[in-house]
Amino acid sequence: MDELIKVFATGPLPKQVREKLSRFADMRVREAETEMSHEELLQEVKDRNALVCLVGDTVDEELMDAAPELKVVANVAVGVDNIDLAAAKKRGILVVNTPGVLDNATADLAFGLLMACARRIAESDKFVREGRWQGFRTDLMLGTEISGKTLGIVGMGRIGEAVARRGQGFGMRIIYTRKGNEDKDRRLARDLGAKRVSLPELISSSDFISVHCPLNHETRHLIGKVELSRVRKNCILINTARGAVLDQKALIASLQDGKLAGAGLDVFDDEPKVPEELLALKNVVLTPHIGSATTETRLAMAALAVEGLLTAFSERLPENCVNKDVWPLFLERLKVATT
Ligand code: DGY
Repeated sequence: MDELIKVFATGPLPKQVREKLSRFADMRVREAETEMSHEELLQEVKDRNALVCLVGDTVDEELMDAAPELKVVANVAVGVDNIDLAAAKKRGILVVNTPGVLDNATADLAFGLLMACARRIAESDKFVREGRWQGFRTDLMLGTEISGKTLGIVGMGRIGEAVARRGQGFGMRIIYTRKGNEDKDRRLARDLGAKRVSLPELISSSDFISVHCPLNHETRHLIGKVELSRVRKNCILINTARGAVLDQKALIASLQDGKLAGAGLDVFDDEPKVPEELLALKNVVLTPHIGSATTETRLAMAALAVEGLLTAFSERLPENCVNKDVWPLFLERLKVATT
């Protein structure tokens, strides 16, 4: 790497990561707390050959056309549904993400939401703050037991498995959906007593459903009106994956008519917008996409994304590259740019 890499980062980076990157890069970092418009993003990337971005940034064909020198997109997230991978492939743009470092933080939040819904923690907090507590009653804020219940995990990847381990610790029976070979199923059966089932079976047999699959064309609206009409009585649904894996309208209807007993939601269709109907419901706990938001995890994510970016510009294929088939074209473009 002889020349400085021209980087635009759409959000602040931890000090250590910023210092490391600045040794190799001419950097522009957006520090503002407000959402950045797509137009502003297009302007910022024009002369850049690397972009460090976040889940809220849409990296589409228009952006790639606006940035003809763009070679690496480093997404500080594990999900890459905000990036048009087909468009990146055509242009030889390498995409790196942050797998493996946010599993525990996200699983903690998912399980925290599950407990908050089951034991009405947010509702109880509000009740106390509003001065409505009159004294101990045997029927005050009754919730539902967690231990002994069935936890259905939609998408048993790394995060799903971390949630399953928490569920096992709480004495839950674990069922799950996933794709892939049966070796992992055997291990999950042995280690967690967990059983792989079909989505319809999971929906109709779970007391708690927690969503952990990535968002793609197969999983968009995976859980909609039909699925929600088949949930068990008192079922609670948790989503820390992506809003659009659920059909948000059907979800709201199901919560309003009491078919679903409650929901813990960290992700939404059109973030940061949260529909009024959800805000009005007592049986939901809402958080602002903070699944991976611990100091340790956010540092690890930024470090991994930036490491991937620097590795690529040193002409080595990063392990956290999500589109490895782009590598030959990327290398060609890098060589042309440096000769
Ligand atoms: C991810 O990594 O995909 C999260 O949603 C952002 O932390």
